[in-house]
Amino acid sequence: MPDALFAHARLAPIYDAFDGPRDDLEHYLGIIGELGAKRVLDVGCGTGSLAVLLAARGIEVVGVDPAEASLEVAKAKDPEGRITWIHGDAKAVGDVKADLAVMTGNVAQVFLTDDEWRRTLEGVRTALVPGGHLVFETRRPGRRAWEGWAADPAHEVIDVPGVGEVEQWREVTEVNLPFVSFRCSYRFSDGEVVTSDSTLWFRERDELEALLAEHGFRVLDVRDAPDRPGREYVFIAQRD
Ligand SMILES: C[S@@+](CC[C@H](N)C(=O)[O-])C[C@H]1O[C@@H](n2cnc3c(N)ncnc32)[C@H](O)[C@@H]1O
Repeated sequence: MPDALFAHARLAPIYDAFDGPRDDLEHYLGIIGELGAKRVLDVGCGTGSLAVLLAARGIEVVGVDPAEASLEVAKAKDPEGRITWIHGDAKAVGDVKADLAVMTGNVAQVFLTDDEWRRTLEGVRTALVPGGHLVFETRRPGRRAWEGWAADPAHEVIDVPGVGEVEQWREVTEVNLPFVSFRCSYRFSDGEVVTSDSTLWFRERDELEALLAEHGFRVLDVRDAPDRPGREYVFIAQRD
């Protein structure tokens, strides 16, 4: 069940505005170009920010996400219908013969059990051609990102086109490592307050390497995210 942040009919349309500029995506476009991918599966595509950039470069894209409201936002960015949008998790994709699968925006941290991760890796494996790549990022636990979030309870107000002024504030509600929970609240101009509770798993690099190996993925490289130096692991793995 995706968080309200992605699945609520009032929150999905304001996600991009509060997420801010996507400097992180340039790095993924670079990796996808470097690996020569022509058909990409975007797992947890959300509002489609990466998918539309890829499609604009002539790459065939399949975007999958369990949050219907986010997919609606994504589809509106693809009026020509160049992208295949699928509602569900990676298991819903089937054998689409992608040569690369990608998970941006720390999707890798939303899987809260080994089973959820396994399900995702099985789905990705089925969707990829042999030798296809899986590229994803996850926050380094040692950088303790949640401490920065807890120290910054600031309220932010954004005038979202077509929606009006929305006020957002975030609180860290529980740190029970490796899990960190937080609540985002949004006040709309009609006075309604909508909250979204999220929990993320901060996994160690070696745990992820073991999970990938278990599912027939070989880790080729673990890089830094240039826009967030020292804060993320960017995994590049290849299926057998
Ligand atoms: C932080 S957002 C990132 C969205 C997008 N990748 C981006 O970079 O903007 C996390 C996304 O993961 C999706 N998600 C949650 N559970 C999932 C699952 N089991 N499989 C795939 N995606 C999932 C959410 O619905 C949400 O769209």
